[in-house]
Amino acid sequence: MSKLSNLSPYEQFLRENFHTDDPALQRLQAEAEKEGLPPISIGPEQGKFLQVLIQASGARKVLEVGCLGGYSGAWMARALPADGRLISLELEEKHAAFTRRQWASLGLADKAEVRVGPALDTLPGLAEEAPFDLIFIDADKNNYPAYLEWALRYSKSGTIILGDNVSMGGRLVDQDRQESPAIQGMRRFAEAMAADPRLVSTVVPYADGIAMGVVK
Ligand SMILES: C[S@@+](CC[C@H](N)C(=O)[O-])C[C@H]1O[C@@H](n2cnc3c(N)ncnc32)[C@H](O)[C@@H]1O
Repeated sequence: MSKLSNLSPYEQFLRENFHTDDPALQRLQAEAEKEGLPPISIGPEQGKFLQVLIQASGARKVLEVGCLGGYSGAWMARALPADGRLISLELEEKHAAFTRRQWASLGLADKAEVRVGPALDTLPGLAEEAPFDLIFIDADKNNYPAYLEWALRYSKSGTIILGDNVSMGGRLVDQDRQESPAIQGMRRFAEAMAADPRLVSTVVPYADGIAMGVVK
């Protein structure tokens, strides 16, 4: 959803020139809203960033944890080569069914697949498809530390691991919110991304902050 009116003039310039949603992706977002999917997808800035990473790294196999309506997945699948593959994990059957319809109408059904269930149940079944070249974590925040462990298990040297929403809308460092399991999960995830000796990591300050690590 391109909310140009909420952006500063500079951000508008960037979005209009670098990070434009095309009509097909705008339609996906409009239909997601009409069907009552929560408006919690990434924005076009992050979508473009994921595409740049996929192209720069030559990624062919991508894993996503947290599919929603397939918006971030569509950005990523479009950047993959013809023989590339995206597997996206999603808890809600309603979200998965919506995504499958959208990816089919975008011509991405051959490349992109959504698997339904709690990610901690579906992740163990991916061993044969690993290692992945890029892994994007964007689901329930309390489980981010466990998702990072799976991501590291399913990586090789050069794999890029990303986790969205590091700032949690500012709540990460709000001393009155530290009891929340989601905040605690994000804190442990961020600390592990920063300190794990297998990774070289940073946080890219798009939107809510994307942690990004490359496996050494
Ligand atoms: C922030 S949304 C993902 C947005 C999507 N990556 C995008 O940008 O278009 C998080 C998704 O994770 C899903 N989710 C929540 N808990 C989950 C779990 N335990 N396993 C798998 N998916 C989960 C939610 O149903 C929701 O669709």
